Amino acid sequence: MNVLRRDDDPAPRPTRQPRRPAQEQRKQRQAPPEEDQRIAFVTGGTRGIGLACALELLEDGHRVVVGSRNRPDRLPEGLAWVPCDVTDPKQIDAAFDAIEAEVGPVTILVANAGITNDGLVLRMSDDDFTSVVDANLGGAFRVAKRSIRPMMKKRWGRIIFISSVVGAMGQTGQANYAASKAGLVGLGRSLAREFASRNITVNLVAPGPIETDMLDALGDDTKAAIVEAVPLGRVGTPDDVAAAVGFLASDGAAYITGATIPVDGGLGMGG
Ligand SMILES: NC(=O)c1ccc[n+]([C@@H]2O[C@H](COP(=O)([O-])OP(=O)(O)OC[C@H]3O[C@@H](n4cnc5c(N)ncnc54)[C@H](OP(=O)(O)O)[C@@H]3O)[C@@H](O)[C@H]2O)c1
Repeated sequence: MNVLRRDDDPAPRPTRQPRRPAQEQRKQRQAPPEEDQRIAFVTGGTRGIGLACALELLEDGHRVVVGSRNRPDRLPEGLAWVPCDVTDPKQIDAAFDAIEAEVGPVTILVANAGITNDGLVLRMSDDDFTSVVDANLGGAFRVAKRSIRPMMKKRWGRIIFISSVVGAMGQTGQANYAASKAGLVGLGRSLAREFASRNITVNLVAPGPIETDMLDALGDDTKAAIVEAVPLGRVGTPDDVAAAVGFLASDGAAYITGATIPVDGGLGMGG
């Protein structure tokens, strides 16, 4: 393959919670023939929530490509990788071109890539603000826009934005991040309205604190304070988020668009 890489290295999958028996049975159904498989692209799909989403979609029988800035050392079997920095329109175009040439048109997009750069507003530079908004909100806009035409041709598409509970609640030290995640809601609902007639649904998942590198960066004390505030009394797992994404990408979610599904242990209730 030219740009894409299928890594057949039998790397261990990241720890996933054991599935319930019914779910297990569902997952064991045979994958459809390749010509009937849908093609999913997950930005920021090399670790954390994005990787869990990619694995969920793979288990659901789709062909899955993940994108990121850095080439991962290893990828679980079945996933392909393409370089795709969502702040760079040229890389986005090249990534979609490569996927279309080597796999086919993307009809499931999970716009998951995101960053933080925390700080109190009085110490937050313009660049601290705009760089986070550009990656999280601008990046989602760019990949969604690039994905739409092929979905329109297929008259079927699923776009799923990964927002955050922080978008609705706000968070001290995260004005840039919260603004970007709240912005995704307006973006998603507008796209949902614009493309509903083309049978393209656009939804959001708003995770609460999820056990990933991003959360680890906050340190143990902050994490403990967050857990204290979560009604379910724990941080979530990437699989918790991936389950909602898998549902939104499925035929079962055909009549859902413009919605935000919280996956936050109850943290944002009422928000
Ligand atoms: N973890 C949480 O508690 C939590 C809560 C709510 C929402 N979220 C959201 O969930 C998403 C995933 O978070 P996570 O915790 O899984 O983060 P993570 O572990 O830090 O992973 C981030 C992923 O995004 C990629 N990425 C970062 N900047 C990128 C860019 N400019 N272009 C393309 N890929 C980029 C990273 O790969 P490279 O560095 O190689 O590019 C990596 O694959 C984010 O949008 C985040 O805001 C997370």
